[in-house]
Amino acid sequence: MKKDFKSQILEGIPKELPELQPYDKNINHAPKRKDILTDEEKKLALKNALRYFDKKHHEILAPEFLDELKKYGRIYMYRFRPSYKITARSIEEFPHKCRQAAAIMLMLSNNLDHAVAQHPHELITYGGNGAVFQNWAQYRLTMKYLAEMTEEQTLVMYSGHPMGLFPSHKDAPRVVVTNGMVIPNYSKPDHWEKFNALGVSQYGQMTAGSFMYIGPQGIVHGTTITVLNAGRKIGNDGLGGKLFVTSGLGGMSGAQAKAAVIAGAIGVIGEVNPKAVHTRHSQGWVDEVYADLDKLLKRIEKARKNKEAISLAYQGNIVDLWEKFAKDGIKVELGSDQTSLHNPWAGGYYPAGLSFEESNIMMAEEPDKFKKKVQESLKRQVAAINKLASKGMYFFDYGNAFLLESSRAGADVLKKDGSFKYPSYVQDIMGPMCFDFGFGPFRWVCTSSDPEDLKKTDAIAVKVLEKIAKTAPAEITQQMQDNIRWIREAQKNKLVVGSQARILYADAEGRIKIAEAFNKAIKNGEISAPVVLGRDHHDVSGTDSPYRETSNIYDGSQFTADMAIQNVIGDSFRGATWVSIHNGGGVGWGEVINGGFGMLLDGSKDADRRLRSMLFWDVNNGISRRSWARNEGAVFAIKRAMKNNPDLKVTLPNFADDKIINKLFNV
Ligand SMILES: NC(=O)c1ccc[n+]([C@@H]2O[C@H](COP(=O)([O-])OP(=O)(O)OC[C@H]3O[C@@H](n4cnc5c(N)ncnc54)[C@H](O)[C@@H]3O)[C@@H](O)[C@H]2O)c1
Repeated sequence: MKKDFKSQILEGIPKELPELQPYDKNINHAPKRKDILTDEEKKLALKNALRYFDKKHHEILAPEFLDELKKYGRIYMYRFRPSYKITARSIEEFPHKCRQAAAIMLMLSNNLDHAVAQHPHELITYGGNGAVFQNWAQYRLTMKYLAEMTEEQTLVMYSGHPMGLFPSHKDAPRVVVTNGMVIPNYSKPDHWEKFNALGVSQYGQMTAGSFMYIGPQGIVHGTTITVLNAGRKIGNDGLGGKLFVTSGLGGMSGAQAKAAVIAGAIGVIGEVNPKAVHTRHSQGWVDEVYADLDKLLKRIEKARKNKEAISLAYQGNIVDLWEKFAKDGIKVELGSDQTSLHNPWAGGYYPAGLSFEESNIMMAEEPDKFKKKVQESLKRQVAAINKLASKGMYFFDYGNAFLLESSRAGADVLKKDGSFKYPSYVQDIMGPMCFDFGFGPFRWVCTSSDPEDLKKTDAIAVKVLEKIAKTAPAEITQQMQDNIRWIREAQKNKLVVGSQARILYADAEGRIKIAEAFNKAIKNGEISAPVVLGRDHHDVSGTDSPYRETSNIYDGSQFTADMAIQNVIGDSFRGATWVSIHNGGGVGWGEVINGGFGMLLDGSKDADRRLRSMLFWDVNNGISRRSWARNEGAVFAIKRAMKNNPDLKVTLPNFADDKIINKLFNV
């Protein structure tokens, strides 16, 4: 007899082996990973995988898992994929003893939903390697633990592996997640390949491994804000008739097409994977697709003339697109790149001159040759970009390690002093315009999974922000207005995929006031069920990443990770429902430490107390660090926060006069 959803969750790892399921070719699967383990290590990987199962099954499972390891480079335990649909059901449908745990199950399920996840059968949510779990046994065990847990327990998770439920207390986080935490000297890309193949570590990306990914909306919003502000770098006359050229129509990069249109520009996006092009086109984010460069150029000229806000995909390699623009002298106003260069050798970047299929074979079978091809391709790409930049294009790194990997490849991206020729989007845009003032990607999810609740929360958020905007200082007016406009139009843009989620950028005051208003509305029944609060890790305080989130920190501390670690510790004892800290994230393994939280608002007094304490810290920690790094916007913001809360006492920097210092060096 087929078991229902609840009993399958409560069963955890089934006692009897489920039927082996055929490999579904219609699903977007993760690329085959590098064959990195020695035979001895492969034996270890098998022993590690078999730990999850009763000994009586080992004879059957051992050869099956070895086959997976050989074919895919990882042991996913495909046989244990559940037969029910994994999706953000309403909170009450998840079996639970405490609602906080049920909310986490909802969020986790959303991250594995076929409509949301990039490689759902490999438990990868986005970014090519952003994993929720390493294998299906971990998923099943975790769901069972969550279903059983009480408010006096905390689930401890090591890179997808649920170590177990430990006694704690009701104000403690229900789940503590660590992903990819390794000894710093063991944090090169091949270490990830090896530890992941052994089944002992995983790449949680930013929000995948913390169950906080909400589908493409978050990234559409962030990208819209970035493109709007990038546009302000080249003039205040808007983006009408201006060209924004970039690459990638994947998990996050796909947002560029939609964002370009919302921002009013002509977006031209190169994408080498026909499946990715098809997904974005059929979903309506890409308006038109071209495989012929001359036809594409004609269409661009028409769009420019008519000042159309439109997104055009080039189905092919981005290098060919850039070289064509450079050769034909096409004017490009804004340029970027969003291939997955945080993962350059295992499917993140497809070199020019090879077909998509040829690359997939070469990266697995001839990794050294493939690496050379990637590096040659990056050099060509940069040469074309340099040519267009010399004619006035504003180019920015989109936090995908493009400049970093290009420099490692020997491309011409460095200035004489060793710094990059182009800014990162955080250095020029997000950092000084948003993060230093505490503005970051605050989000919420309605656990009823009812669109009506989302509508109500949108209306509440607009009301709260409009009230704050009336007395907000001039320094933050632009950010407030961009976000009020966004939230007013949010329903129209139809960006909800999966859970009923919303995102906007707000500072500490905005986040706290919105959260308070939600909690009140839940208490009085206006909103029908609890709401989960969270944020992208890509925020003011959560992430230390010298080439991205903290790239506008110039006191030398951009290579430290104290802020992210302090943040997650601080969130955990101020009332977060779950916390997570990751090595990896958007720019690559070893290049970033990032953390986040989730918090359930259930209308209670406890939730009210927790939200105030935690959200205040969660934003002001980063502002204080940015202020100490002498960032003027942050000095302004932290002084304002101290004025509003006398219990906050932050050490402020004194600004040394360059003249005094230069004199000592005879400058
Ligand atoms: N947008 C942001 O704010 C933001 C934030 C964080 C990180 N990023 C970074 O952006 C990158 C992309 O993220 P994603 O989730 O979209 O990854 P993804 O892997 O889903 O998408 C990247 C796409 O680039 C395509 N591609 C690779 N090489 C190409 C080439 N030479 N020509 C044309 N297309 C090519 C791939 O086929 C893929 O579809 C990641 O490195 C991510 O960390 C962006």
